[in-house]
Amino acid sequence: MVAERIDGKAFAAELRERIAQQVAALKAEHDLVPGLAVVLVGDDPASQVYVGSKGKQTVAAGMNSYEHRLPAEATQADLLALIGRLNADSAVHGILVQLPLPDHIDETEIINAIAVKKDVDGFTVANTGRLATGQRAMVPCTPLGCLMLLRDRLGDLSGLNAVVIGRSNIVGKPMAALLLADNATVTVAHSRSRDLPAITRAADIVVAAVGRPGMVRGDWVKPGATVIDVGINRTESGLVGDVDYDSVAEVAGAVTPVPGGVGPMTIACLLANTLTACCRANG
Ligand code: GUN
Repeated sequence: MVAERIDGKAFAAELRERIAQQVAALKAEHDLVPGLAVVLVGDDPASQVYVGSKGKQTVAAGMNSYEHRLPAEATQADLLALIGRLNADSAVHGILVQLPLPDHIDETEIINAIAVKKDVDGFTVANTGRLATGQRAMVPCTPLGCLMLLRDRLGDLSGLNAVVIGRSNIVGKPMAALLLADNATVTVAHSRSRDLPAITRAADIVVAAVGRPGMVRGDWVKPGATVIDVGINRTESGLVGDVDYDSVAEVAGAVTPVPGGVGPMTIACLLANTLTACCRANG
């Protein structure tokens, strides 16, 4: 079997196009423009690239982008004051603080200072709790993108066995909550799990989010399974995922490539969350 290659890049482009149309309608009918504020502290090169593309894609979708770049020495109080201003600014519908923050900053306090309705990353404790308890929540962008790709390929996920490898707050845990809300039977595996290959071989859906290059191989995968690769690992041979694409593609029914799979979905979902936040803020 040769697996279908799930084209996240094309899916994300279509999603951005739909969002741009809705943004245009919001402007025409209600004179309302969604605004996203992105906060970057310090000069981490990878974060600069991410923040740059977020800004560009926000503007390309017809939204307002507000970038706040602070020096690496910015204090906890500086950041809290900035977030306070952004919370109070009615032109700002979404706030994203790029992670990681410098070591001297208390990341948890900063994230939780973001107004729940403007938390387009879905990282606040309030949104995390809302997602876990089935209340209306802002959902973290990467797992939301994975869910969209899974629903698009599989339709109803009810009763399917899903294995999420990785238990991070940004991907693994919210991914598990989303799959559970879609009635999948969910296993969360991690570095201490015993016999990971046996666990993944029982899965109809595998979501790999561990940061270990090429860890999931073809002999770990049930024939016909759908495999979603969240890994972005910079290695000597370039950017590689957590999934060994070639061997998995011989067994799986469908698999996302790296790059061009989940990655482009993340920013598209950020735009979707910003549009949602704007609509909710304005009734
Ligand atoms: N750093 C790496 N991924 C993310 C993300 O999804 N959101 C934020 N805010 N920072 C990140």
